[in-house]
Amino acid sequence: MTQATNTEIDATIIAGLNKLLADAAVFRYKLQNYHWNVRGRQFFDLHKQFETLYTSWTKHLDDIAERIRAKEASPLPTLARCLEHTHLAEEEGTPDDKQMIERIVADLLTIHNAVREVIEDADDAGDRTTVNMLDDIGDEIEKRVWMFRAWHQGA
Ligand SMILES: [Fe+2]
Repeated sequence: MTQATNTEIDATIIAGLNKLLADAAVFRYKLQNYHWNVRGRQFFDLHKQFETLYTSWTKHLDDIAERIRAKEASPLPTLARCLEHTHLAEEEGTPDDKQMIERIVADLLTIHNAVREVIEDADDAGDRTTVNMLDDIGDEIEKRVWMFRAWHQGA
C-alpha cells in the first residue's frame, strides 16, 4: 500500500472539518429551536441552558470555518451543503423536555466520535492547531454530556 501524501492527509482533515462545520450548523439550529419551543416547569432552566449551548456551538462553527480558511480551503458555503455533509438528522415537531435532552446527548456523542476521527488525522499530520482546537471542543462535549445526563437522571 502506498503511503498517503501530505496533500491527501490535508484533504482528509479539511473534509472532516467541513463535516464538523455541517454538524455545528445543524446542531446549533436544533438547539435554538428547542430554546424557542421548550415547555413545562423546567422552562426557565432549559431555555437558558439551550441558549448557552447554541451560543457555544456558534463559536465552534466560526472557529472550525476559520481553521478551514487558514488551511487555504473553503468552508461549506450554504446550509443545503451542510445538510448533505452532516452526521446529524434534522428534526420536525416539538419533543418534550426529556426527549430534547436525550436527543442533545445523542447528537453530542455523534459529534464527539467525528471530532475524535479528525483529531487522529490531524495528529498524524502534525497539525497541532487543529488538534488543540478539537481537543477543546471534545472536552466541552464530554462535560455537557455529563451535565445533561445528570439532569436526565433527576427528571
Ligand atoms: Fe432567545
